[in-house]
Amino acid sequence: MTTTDNAVEQSALDQSAAATSPTTSPTAADSGASASASFRSTSQYSGSGTATDSARVDTLARALLGAVHHVIRDHDVTYPEFQAAKKWLMDVGDGGEWPLFLDVFVEHAVEEVASRTQAGTKGTILGPYYLPEQVQLTSPATLPARPDEKGTPLLFRGQITDTDGTPVPHAVLDIWQADEKGYYSGFAPDIPSGNLRGVVTTDDKGVFEITTIQPAPYQVPTDGPTGALIAGAGWHPWRPAHLHLLVSAEGHRTVTTQLYFAGGDYLDSDVAEATKPELILDPTDVGDGTRQVTYDFVLERN
Ligand code: DHB
Ligand code: FE
Repeated sequence: MTTTDNAVEQSALDQSAAATSPTTSPTAADSGASASASFRSTSQYSGSGTATDSARVDTLARALLGAVHHVIRDHDVTYPEFQAAKKWLMDVGDGGEWPLFLDVFVEHAVEEVASRTQAGTKGTILGPYYLPEQVQLTSPATLPARPDEKGTPLLFRGQITDTDGTPVPHAVLDIWQADEKGYYSGFAPDIPSGNLRGVVTTDDKGVFEITTIQPAPYQVPTDGPTGALIAGAGWHPWRPAHLHLLVSAEGHRTVTTQLYFAGGDYLDSDVAEATKPELILDPTDVGDGTRQVTYDFVLERN
């Protein structure tokens, strides 16, 4: 994909978000439609290069359908329940909520399998709100933010090394996060594109320093079919506050991860089950209202 395609795609995302809601409060339809458009345009993450091996398709399709049949038999599922489930599945598709739903309720298991073979910093889910081709910055860097961006200033610093401790020069941190209300640029109306997103290159010792704000916890949209399921089941719709990162370097395997905040709400009950104890930051106050934290990343060599 070219930069122009991405610019066009991004503007389509902005327009679809703006067109579906003139208010300042994002709806499930905003987030769902934008997340679906983004997934389709981000080919490196959509699995479009996966070969279809019919033995593998047979194995997985049989296992998946078998699991569904098992639930139906075990729980005496009725016709009205089957028809309600069918309608709900159609609503998730119509609302463009499949990326949201799958990344909240399924991706953590895929990531668990992927992480079995990855050394270094723990990974976790990508989620539906990554956008490629964001502004390129050099450490020390400040993420793009609105002039009146609310939230506690956060100075996030650290170093990237490989598994034997050797610094990785000019490693790259692609970072994105929610704002102080828990909303992501590109997926909610009224937030400028690229806000709180950036691709930061470290110095020649792998050292980085990024100024941003502390994100708020994220709430899965409550007004769509995913929200209806969560409410219907009596669950809560929250993810703990987090920073998203793709950490990469020439000759090294990219780590897809998130960092959380000690003492924050929902750390022990993440609706997406994507927290890990190794990924919790504990920033300290530096006096002027700013908080500061160091976190070092370890990348495996290819
Ligand atoms: C979802 C949102 C996130 O911000 C995230 O990190 C993971 C999943 C979601 O709504 O699917
Ligand atoms: Fe997120």
